[in-house]
Amino acid sequence: MNITVAGAGYVGLVSAICLAQIGHDVTCADVDAEKIRMLRSGRSPIYEAGLEELLQSNAPRLRFTTDPAEAYAAADVIVIGVGTPENPDGSCDLRYVYAAADSIAQHARDGAVVAVKSTVPIGTCAKLQTYFDTHTGGTRRVRVASNPEFLSQGTAVHDTLYASRIVIGAEEAETRAILRKMVEPFGIPIVETDLCSAEMIKYASNSFLALKISFINEIANLCETVGADVTDVAEGMGYDARIGRQFLRAGVGYGGSCFPKDTKAFYWLSEHEGQALKTVRAAIDVNEAQKRLPLEKARAICGDLRGRTVAVLGLAFKPGTDDVRDAPSLKVVAELLRAGAVVRAWDRVAADRFASAAGGDVRYCRDAAEALEGAELCLILTEWDEVRALTPKDFETFMRTPVVIDGRNCFEPDRFVGTGVTYASIGRKPVLNHAERTDVQ
Ligand SMILES: NC(=O)c1ccc[n+]([C@@H]2O[C@H](COP(=O)([O-])OP(=O)(O)OC[C@H]3O[C@@H](n4cnc5c(N)ncnc54)[C@H](O)[C@@H]3O)[C@@H](O)[C@H]2O)c1
Repeated sequence: MNITVAGAGYVGLVSAICLAQIGHDVTCADVDAEKIRMLRSGRSPIYEAGLEELLQSNAPRLRFTTDPAEAYAAADVIVIGVGTPENPDGSCDLRYVYAAADSIAQHARDGAVVAVKSTVPIGTCAKLQTYFDTHTGGTRRVRVASNPEFLSQGTAVHDTLYASRIVIGAEEAETRAILRKMVEPFGIPIVETDLCSAEMIKYASNSFLALKISFINEIANLCETVGADVTDVAEGMGYDARIGRQFLRAGVGYGGSCFPKDTKAFYWLSEHEGQALKTVRAAIDVNEAQKRLPLEKARAICGDLRGRTVAVLGLAFKPGTDDVRDAPSLKVVAELLRAGAVVRAWDRVAADRFASAAGGDVRYCRDAAEALEGAELCLILTEWDEVRALTPKDFETFMRTPVVIDGRNCFEPDRFVGTGVTYASIGRKPVLNHAERTDVQ
């Protein structure tokens, strides 16, 4: 099939390349000329494991353009994968979706299907159908479908090629059939619904996962108070197939481009509809509080942070990606700088993105050892393998005062017993070896 994907970001680009991988001819369109230039030269503007290799091996079936006419005129299916950020009030900002829709309405051929992969509020696809019906000049009919995306950044290529399910929502059977034909070669279970239900599946799924994370984070905080160990608690819970093991890892909160904005947009929509989702509200509030934990723990152990050198290990919202959108690191580093600390940061791939998103006087280091050199406090915010590979001895050797606050529970606390390192993590007993204060949890 002849497919065009609008948007060459984490979702659009990965979708485009994976659709080429299963044999389709794919054009990927973006308004960002620099991204298109890079892609034409065989380089990926984003980091995702295996993506650049697939980009190069599928080059004969892939085209990249900034020209809407070239992008949309001949496509059987147009996949919209542009960003849907949040508005200041938490609702979803659809301006990029409508900008893409405007170009599509001008150029799409009669009978083309527009599959909305961007995460959009329930009801948006129906409104887009009306938009196309009134903006295609009456001579062409463009049909809208919902095809939400469930990939996780860091494993985006794998998640697309081996997804748990593909959801296709459309009002007409013929529209669903065209999309089924497009995705069948993936060999993945397909769930077919109406438009609204497909849009709802996406928000409900993300909110449920966010809720699971916030739940275990609240349990972690209670574990610290009562003296339990959240890792053991999560393991004991996870054996129950009704609960499951995934998303039960306590930490300093979820970030990224999806969970934070999607939970807020979902809550906004539910409140607007007079059915405020109280559980989703709780997930959002718990997550915001969780991001403050590293600094609370740091102050409890070290007191005033003014003038202290702090190593921050990990800036990306999770390992395997260079994305820092809504990452806990943004809040933590800003707060450190406000408190007058000297920040030395390391991340395997996200330092450049962090620097342009956050600014501020941060020294970016080549490796974890350089960040730790002379530091009086270390905050772990992303569980990169390089961080997990550190030993208590490394912290002792490199740091001036080895105090480690591990926001991702990278290490077994027992490893720090009898060392010179003070180690505090999330939901587990701290190991206080040199601490100036002992009222930390
Ligand atoms: N990132 C994820 O993990 C993920 C997972 C599932 C769903 N989603 C959803 O997918 C959508 C895209 O997310 P993303 O992370 O890929 O965003 P992104 O910001 O990485 O990419 C969006 C791209 O769209 C381009 N764009 C903007 N306007 C355009 C237009 N009119 N025509 C063509 N291109 C245009 C931008 O230049 C950018 O390259 C969002 O709705 C998001 O909620 C994201």
